[in-house]
Amino acid sequence: MRSRKPSVHKQQINGVAAEELVHALRTHQVDAIVGERHIMLVRLKQAEEELELSRNQLRALTASLLSIRENERIVIAREIHDELGQALTCLQLGLSWMAGKVTAQQQPVQDKVRSLAALVTTMIRTVQRIADELRPGVLDELGLVKALKSEARKFTGYTGTPCKFETNMGKARCSREASIAIFRIAQAALTNVARHANASKIVMSLMVGTTHLVLTVHDNGKGITREQISSAQSLGIIGIRERVLALKGSLNIRGSKSTGTTLTVRIPRSRILLGHRPVSS
Ligand SMILES: Nc1ncnc2c1ncn2[C@@H]1O[C@H](COP(=O)(O)OP(=O)(O)OP(=O)(O)O)[C@@H](O)[C@H]1O
Ligand SMILES: [Mg+2]
Repeated sequence: MRSRKPSVHKQQINGVAAEELVHALRTHQVDAIVGERHIMLVRLKQAEEELELSRNQLRALTASLLSIRENERIVIAREIHDELGQALTCLQLGLSWMAGKVTAQQQPVQDKVRSLAALVTTMIRTVQRIADELRPGVLDELGLVKALKSEARKFTGYTGTPCKFETNMGKARCSREASIAIFRIAQAALTNVARHANASKIVMSLMVGTTHLVLTVHDNGKGITREQISSAQSLGIIGIRERVLALKGSLNIRGSKSTGTTLTVRIPRSRILLGHRPVSS
């Protein structure tokens, strides 16, 4: 009787065919996996490029909005200062004219005129303050250093907490764009200290080095957390970062419970300084 078992030779041939089949399947699978990975990488790269583009567009939009806001502030400040200020000054002059016409027998009228004149004087001061906050005249008239010094003084006046200002800027001047940005950053940082830090000492400094201009605002308060720094709700900090990035600078905020908060802004000197001779502080 003939055996049903395949011959050894046949078995070998079947083994080889099976191996070839497995190899072909593996190669096919590997090709498919490699192909899929390639497609994924291309898509990832495309997504990264799109993200970068939209990030840049958002950044440009923010810079443009900040600049529009600043220009509108200038216009509103001028209108308030010139129009309203002038009208109030006329009113003040009119009241003092009336005061001169009122006789001693018209005591109630005299009292009324006097109280109205006092009210108008307060209004004039308020208008000047609002106009000044919208467009700090001191920035144009005296420059960034004096404007920051005045902010530090105002901070101490309003809060009762000492705020020291240090600088080595000497006669160095910043471009108008940079001055406004640095001034607004300092204002936002000081407002944060007043609102959130619960500090007893603040030091603000503006230092020019060989490569960078550095603004630092340090407080010894409760310290900001990492979450607060990077939160999407922290619009004040986001605004500060955008102003810094528009000047191709960098922002660093560090906080700790024991040492308080330090905000450091570094801006390449070449981008913002109009003339420079540092002096020791
Ligand atoms: N100097 C600081 N010390 C402690 N916490 C701070 C300090 N500065 C900021 N923070 C925390 O970080 C958060 C975010 O600050 P950010 O300036 O972005 O927003 P805000 O001050 O709350 O509101 P606004 O948009 O009016 O500025 C604050 O709410 C506060 O909790
Ligand atoms: Mg704030």
